[in-house]
Amino acid sequence: MPRSVVSIDDLTSDEMEAVFQLADRFLAEMATPDRPYRVQGIAKIANQSILATLFFEASTRTRLSFESAMLRLGGQCISASDPSQTSASKGETIADMVRVVGNYADAIVIRHPLEGAARVAAEYAAVPVINAGDGSHEHPTQTLCDLYTLRAAQAEKGRPRSIHSIKDLNVVVWGDLRHGRTVHSLVYALARLKARIIPRAAPGCELPEHVGSRLKRDYHCIPLTKENVDDGLPPDVDVVYMTPEEPHQLALFDIRMQTQLKGLKTVDALYSTRLQLERLATNYAGEYPAVDSEFLKQKRYREANVMHPLPRVDELSYDIDEDKRSMYFKQAAYGVPVRMALIASLLELHPALAASPVAATGRYPEYRRAGGIECTNDRCVSRAANERRYLAPRFWIVQSGPPILRCVYCDVEQQPGAYGAVPTNKFVADLATWQEVNSEDLIFFAGAAEAAKAGYEPRKRKPRKKDVGGELVAK
Ligand code: NCD
Repeated sequence: MPRSVVSIDDLTSDEMEAVFQLADRFLAEMATPDRPYRVQGIAKIANQSILATLFFEASTRTRLSFESAMLRLGGQCISASDPSQTSASKGETIADMVRVVGNYADAIVIRHPLEGAARVAAEYAAVPVINAGDGSHEHPTQTLCDLYTLRAAQAEKGRPRSIHSIKDLNVVVWGDLRHGRTVHSLVYALARLKARIIPRAAPGCELPEHVGSRLKRDYHCIPLTKENVDDGLPPDVDVVYMTPEEPHQLALFDIRMQTQLKGLKTVDALYSTRLQLERLATNYAGEYPAVDSEFLKQKRYREANVMHPLPRVDELSYDIDEDKRSMYFKQAAYGVPVRMALIASLLELHPALAASPVAATGRYPEYRRAGGIECTNDRCVSRAANERRYLAPRFWIVQSGPPILRCVYCDVEQQPGAYGAVPTNKFVADLATWQEVNSEDLIFFAGAAEAAKAGYEPRKRKPRKKDVGGELVAK
């Protein structure tokens, strides 16, 4: 399978740095005089290649910067940006669409409202797939632009021009942390790079539970709150996510002793985001926080780089556009060199990415079965009527005591309420013994009622000793 970028975790930190060094080279060789962040001209690097951009949601920056990047590499683009004009409107599935488009282009960029759509595309396409945003799930290439901007800002402050300069930065993520996909990919990367994440959500727009859980489970992030920190959390900060140097330090990590959090007195970057109105079921009644010149007068923000994925609405005042801390237009301009570097790497025109990917985070055992538990997220690709024709529910078993299942497509986690063994057609509603069933026979259910509905009967007795480790036997 070719390398694809669906999650920010599909790239290791070293690979991101290699992609950034290539973007540095494009800027060094092709920048517009007086505008060192803007690429001009055409490099004849990808002149044998075609990029397909498939956009099933609105986009300005992402689609145009991808297309500009491909054209500046000397390649060609084909594009579908109006869903009503594609066969998706005739009921074509994502799997079929990318199998076809993979014969017309050498790489596919996809934006889709279903969470996990890009994962499906990457599994079925014969060419690299880049996720340009899948619902509220992830937007990894925006994160690459964000990290590249942070890295450049650190270089301007005299630190090495390296992704590792992001370590220990205090980054405030601001606004709609629930529905905004850019923030999700960003916090995963920040946690991995060991920056401190300070969420400042608009009311009702807090980080989703599964994002917090992935921060803790996959990156060993510790949420520091007023309860577990003696001193150091500013009054307006409820929680800071912090990653210890090494996971094994967790056992020794006495939060009260270790965290004076002196560093929190300054903010290095403020990442503001728009309320994702199009993803809300009702009008937003809360007060949405805005950044303006008054706000930036606070001492803590004196050195803070202001970032935003754009487009902005009211959360970022026009009165800070000329402020030297404002980075958002540069951040958008970096979309071209960064995406040039990513495309060139995925097309194997440059060796920034290894042929066999190394997982950026640990892997979990996988559970995959039709007929049992399904993802609870109704925006997940695995729940969409068309895609269900061929997609079986798939989960990572991220906790093995009482099991916790994380959807492979959208990351939403849940605890099953019952388990059974397929050959016996029996189920048990007590999860304590689920590991007694062979993984190839195991089926999880949301609860006893779902198991009964699927035709399973309750198991009457506890397994005998000799059954342990084997199949469920009910006589
Ligand atoms: C973002 C997106 O589409 O998620 N835009 C972008 O790609 N730069 C942010 C947004 O729409 O608010």
